[in-house]
Amino acid sequence: METTKLDYAVYTLDNRLFLPAGKLLTSEALDELIAINKGTSYQALPFLEYGTVYQDIVLLLQKPPYCVIFDEVERTNVLNLMKKINFITPVLESLDYFKKWDFYTYRHSLMVFAMSTIMARDLLEKPEDWIREVMAGTIHDLGKICVPLQILKKSDPLTRTDRSILEHHTLAGFVLLSYFLQDRRSFAAQVANEHHERRDGSGYPLGISLRDSMVEIIAACDVYDALLSPRPYRPTQYDNRAALEEITEMAKGGKLSWEVVQTLVSHNRKDKPHFRECRVSTEKRGTPPADNLYGVIVEKEMEKEIKCPNCYGSCIKKKTYKEGVEYISYECSSCRKEFDEDDLLNIEMDEY
Ligand SMILES: [Fe+2]
Ligand SMILES: [Fe+2]
Repeated sequence: METTKLDYAVYTLDNRLFLPAGKLLTSEALDELIAINKGTSYQALPFLEYGTVYQDIVLLLQKPPYCVIFDEVERTNVLNLMKKINFITPVLESLDYFKKWDFYTYRHSLMVFAMSTIMARDLLEKPEDWIREVMAGTIHDLGKICVPLQILKKSDPLTRTDRSILEHHTLAGFVLLSYFLQDRRSFAAQVANEHHERRDGSGYPLGISLRDSMVEIIAACDVYDALLSPRPYRPTQYDNRAALEEITEMAKGGKLSWEVVQTLVSHNRKDKPHFRECRVSTEKRGTPPADNLYGVIVEKEMEKEIKCPNCYGSCIKKKTYKEGVEYISYECSSCRKEFDEDDLLNIEMDEY
């Protein structure tokens, strides 16, 4: 296990502190934590019979594009598989928490589960491993219970600190699931830890290379579903075509395998070709949302210093990362016009 430092604390829904901020996350530290919980036996309940999970999934699968991906046969397959899944009470309580306070994460957890299930069937060598593995899709974001709701639901651009607190959900989920499942090598804990890693090592929290097929399937479904949803930082969602194009870009950039992308695209085709026969177009015809603040980081200290060349309102400095390259621009908080550094240089010279 790679050793890393926890930048923020890991705590439970009932505010029990598991590990403090600054703690070095080593296998020994984790084993020590798990040892405290050895002997605890949690009640496991059928997932589909829990709360309104069944009704919610049925309803969500009827919405586009999932209604195209899941025809009647696929819907029955997924629901039958789900019937075999039990979750322990701390996991179910976290889903309750998201349903009440952050419905996006609740909905997203259910859809990542459903989508990764059918992709796993196509791609995994041993389909009998499904149940153990696909379960993890439902709880990949469990660590978000350690991220304040103000950050999870923030509609303004995130600050650098907000961003790193948000990214903490991976390590937090890893610690929490290791503890509750009493096993730091459990697959669910691995998924929580690695679902934002990428094949080329450009992801987080560790920047390791994503190699496990099932984690990669969940990582792809995670991005796909996030693009399809309205988010606080992006009121309009990607249309399905644009979402698939984004995922295709990830394969082009070496972040995901082509096989995973082919599988995702094949399920979106009406004729459902075998994924190996599915040709993925690199042509761009989708409509990405115009009002997208994803990846925009605000440098708070700069907010009042830069004046808009158009209306002299205060500008916010934005850093956007695209394929590893950093772009800096400024947006006026009054007239909303955007400027690059050259525009601002011109106005400074004019004033003199
Ligand atoms: Fe996540
Ligand atoms: Fe997610």
